[in-house]
Parts: sequence; C-alpha cells; structure tokens
Amino acid sequence: MCGIVGFTGKDQAVPFLLQGLQALEYRGYDSAGVEVLSPDGELHGVKCSGRVATLAERCRTANLVGTTGIAHTRWATHGAPTDRNAHPHLDCSGRIAIVHNGIIENFQELRAYLARTGHTLASDTDSECIAHLVEDAWAGPAKGDLVEAVRNACQRLQGSWGLAVVCADAPGEVVVARKGSPLVVASTPDGAYAASDVTPLAPVTSHVITLDDDQYARLLPDGSVTVYDADGAVVDHPGTLDIDWDASAATLGGYPDFMAKEIAEQPEAIERLLKNRLGEHGIELDELSMTDADLAAIDRIYMVACGTSYHVGLIARAIVEEWAKVPVVCEFASELNYKEPLVTPHTLCVIITQSGETADTLTAARRMRGMGCKVFAITNVLGSTAARESDGTMYVQAGPEICVCSTKAYTAQMVAAVLLALRLAYANGSMRLEEVQQHYRNLCTLPDLIREVLKRSWQDQQAAKLFRNAQSSLFLGRGVNSTTAAEGALKLKEISYLHAEAYAAGEMKHGPIALLEPGFPVVAIVPADHVHDKTVSNIQEVIARGATCIAVATDGDEEVAKLCQNVLWIPEVPEEDFVPIVAIVHLQTLARYVARSRGCDVDKPRNLAKSVTVE
Ligand code: G6P
Repeated sequence: MCGIVGFTGKDQAVPFLLQGLQALEYRGYDSAGVEVLSPDGELHGVKCSGRVATLAERCRTANLVGTTGIAHTRWATHGAPTDRNAHPHLDCSGRIAIVHNGIIENFQELRAYLARTGHTLASDTDSECIAHLVEDAWAGPAKGDLVEAVRNACQRLQGSWGLAVVCADAPGEVVVARKGSPLVVASTPDGAYAASDVTPLAPVTSHVITLDDDQYARLLPDGSVTVYDADGAVVDHPGTLDIDWDASAATLGGYPDFMAKEIAEQPEAIERLLKNRLGEHGIELDELSMTDADLAAIDRIYMVACGTSYHVGLIARAIVEEWAKVPVVCEFASELNYKEPLVTPHTLCVIITQSGETADTLTAARRMRGMGCKVFAITNVLGSTAARESDGTMYVQAGPEICVCSTKAYTAQMVAAVLLALRLAYANGSMRLEEVQQHYRNLCTLPDLIREVLKRSWQDQQAAKLFRNAQSSLFLGRGVNSTTAAEGALKLKEISYLHAEAYAAGEMKHGPIALLEPGFPVVAIVPADHVHDKTVSNIQEVIARGATCIAVATDGDEEVAKLCQNVLWIPEVPEEDFVPIVAIVHLQTLARYVARSRGCDVDKPRNLAKSVTVE
C-alpha cells in the first residue's frame, strides 16, 4: 500500500532509490517516482504511471544526479494512477518534495484552505496537500528548519502517514515522519536511509531504527539520524531492530517468480518455526508472555485477520476449540471494527497478519485492547506495528514474502496457530503432556510431506490445462478443508483473475450445483478423513452433471482415482487437522500455473497490494 524510500549520503541516490522501490513494489505498483536534489541546487525528478521498471527506464534517459533523494511506489487511493498523481509531489515553488504512504482524511478541507490561500495544486491526491503545508511552515514558523516545517505541517493532518521530505533549501537533508504507516530508518557510514519496511535496507545494514507514531527523523549525508518526538524534542533512545534476514532472501535466487520461490520455501519455514518448541512442560511459547494460570483462565478467543490470514484464523478456530475446548470467534477485522465484540475479563484476542501492518487488523487489535483484552500477534514481519503494539508476538519466521499473494506465511501461520492451540490445551488441562508431544511429533512430519507435494507439481501443471476455457470454477471441501477450498479459490482469483467460488461441499446442492455444466472445473478436497465418503458423494454429483472434477486426495485412494481423471495426490498426513497445511501447496501451485497460462503476472496481480495500510 505505497512504499517510500529515502537516501542521503556519499553515493548517488538514484541506484538505491530504484533498488529500494523494487524491493517495496509488492506494496503497490500503479505508479512510481523519484526526486533528487542535484548539484545545481534544484530538485529534479521523474514520475510516471506503471511499474518501477518503467520508472527506471525513464531515469536512465533523465540522468538524475544527486546524493539526496526520495522515491515512491503507489497503490492509488485518492486520484487515478496517472503520471500527475504519481509521487513525489512538489510545493508551489518546486523546492520541496514529499512522498507519502497513508491517507490524509481531512484532505478536502486542506485543499480548499490551500486553494484559498493562493496555492496551486497539481494533482488529485490527498498527499499533495502535505507539500504545500510544509511550504507554508518552512516560510513561516519553522524558520528554515525542515524537521520543524514537517512537524508543523503534520499537526494539521488527520489520518495516517509515512512521509519523507526533501527541500532544495535544506541541502543534504531527508526528513521523515510517521503516524500510523510504517517507517524505518538506518544510519550507516555511507549515508542514512529510510524505507517503509526493512526489505530495502537488508542489503545495506543489519540494524535499523524503528520510528513510533508521532516521531520524526532528520537524516544527514554523514549517515547520522536524529529522532524527534511530537514536541520536537530529541529522542535519546529510539527503538531499534536487528534484521536477521539475509539480503538474498528478498531476491529471486534463480526462481522464475517470487511465488514459485515462496511456495518452495514452505518446508524450511515450518522447520524453523518448529525448532526447539517442545520442552519439559509442553510447547515453549514464551512469546505469549502469559503464565499458565493466565492461559488457563482464558474463556474466549477472538481470532482477527484479513484475507489469507483470515483463513488461518478459521482453521485455528476449529483446532483450538477441539483441543483447548475454548470457544473461538473468528472475524474479519474489517467487520469486527463495526461490531460490539462480547469481551469478558478473560478474553484473548489473537491477530493474524503476515505484514503486521494491515490497517483493519491493527484497528481491531487496538479496539480489543481498549476493551481490556490481551492481544497476541502472529506475524511475519519483524518490528511491524502489530508486533510492537501487542502484548505478545509470535514471529512465524517465514522470511520476506514478496509475492502479493501469501503462500509460505499462510502455512507458517497455521503451524504457529497449532502451537498456540497446544500451549493453551496443555495449560488449561484439556490435553495431557503425552498428547502434546504426539501432536508436536506429527507437526514435525509436515515439512517432508510438503516436500513430497512439491515434487508432484507436474500434477498441478496438468490440471491447470483444464481451466483453459473456463469462465468460473468451484472449490469444495468439508470441515477444515472447506477453508482449504476457500484459500485455494482465493489464490486462483487473486492471481489468475478467473472467478472461483468456494463452498462447503455439503452445501453445494443448495445453490452452486446450478453452475455445473460440462467442462466446468470443480476442485474437490477429499483427503482420507472422517468426511471422506460424504465428499465422494459430492464428487459423484459433480461428475453426474458433466463437470470436470479435480480432486485433492490421499495416496492410495482407489475410489477417487476411479472417479476422477485428475487427482492432485497428497501423501498420508498423520492428523486430519493438518491436511490443510499440506493440501494447500497443490492449490497454490495450481493457481500459479493457471495464472501463468493466462499470461498474468503472478507476483503483482492487478489492483492488489501486499500490505493494505488503509481501512
Ligand atoms: C492483502 C494481501 C493478502 C493478505 C491480506 C492480509 O489483501 O494481498 O495476501 O492476505 O492483505 O494481509 P496481512 O499482512 O494482514 O496478513
């Protein structure tokens, strides 16, 4: 949802800025732009609709020279993704430039005020107001201090911002501000850097400064970074974070796209997460920061998430209720925010968010905290807002996930939720230690089972051909695998733009069956579980109507083999509840093959952003 980068130092700014934008492109890719302060004392920039690659091409011909600059990759909120709405935005004098991630809620009022006071606005965006407010402040109360000018401007804003500003009259300085949108900065001997998240900074440093809301930072070419609070006082000990991501983790490393790479990384991600988790007293989950007594007292859990992470919540709900016997409500964050949750003094709120920055999820977490709930975050991104604001955080350690649609974070988050369920079940006496140990041993088999599914990707490639002439498709499953169906359908929709509907298999006869006609692709998840025969009956119904059934079934299932010509085989999984973690790998791969056969960019699907930082 928009990525921003800034640099000031010894070297030319443009190479880092473009590289940084590329690393952040998963946040938005409608348009992009860069602005540098050139040796002639003027700001020079290039911006255009389209991808960072288009911007890079334009930069080559524009020959931008300068060692201080800012850049932006956009996911449009206010104003179409056109050249003129692309960031950076300039003030009237063309001597101040800003890039912004977030939403300025009072922009209409501000635009009217700026127009009244003689400013000329050149775009339809909410963000441009900021450049003009900085202009006013620079000429007035800030007395030539860029931090003061930005601070003054921010005092007039309502909404959220991650902001980077340069000014031709403050040579060498980049000033950044944060409220509600993530921002990290880094101080190195070669210069100072700013970015929306750590991904662009991993190649230049392993140590970053994390800004809190209402903080500002001044970056200087000698690499120094000074952080200021809302009142403009220097913050002596700003938050810091060590990045343990290898910079190469955010590169393709020989894979054709990030989706392929991230699907392939799932076994290792789960192994990392499971390592050293079993102790004398069951599952080690110190991240929860709760005593056994606190855990035993939990009488209700809210699982709150969006998108793919919401599907993790649905599966986690089933497992927690089954094992820990605690009632779980699973809600879309965007829905919970407008409901009155039934919170008791012992309600736990678990937020599940890969990025840790999804605005709806953060709002829900803040609200639940405000109602007295402890909030536990399951997230992937180090130092993310979700992690920083929660009472406890479990990092799923999947490494940077660049592809917009989530794959490895999904399976890792499910494993994290299972660990949480085991911890709770043991703490509240619903499960004995030996049972916990057995479940843990079963979990540890998953990486190899996924490796086996990965070896069978040719089956997905074959099945993808069945979608060639499809206009729509149906995904069916029962129990936890109705969620596998939902996630499989979501993957297909997200990246191939082919409509896919997911349904609990037993419900098909109440509506979706009307869609079926010869050649209509239906994906049925039918593992060897307690509802196997019921799902087989649904497959019969599909086949009887001439539709094409693609089954996800367990090795050795003769019945399904006879019924369906197209089977995506999974090895036997030791527990029914863990099937979703294995079966989804086929559906991720299937979606990828379908998308590629339709010529879609699997890593950057249209209209989507990886991190949705607006509500
Ligand atoms: C966006 C992404 C999805 C993701 C969802 C929730 O819509 O495109 O892939 O599942 O946000 O993101 P989160 O970071 O909170 O898990």
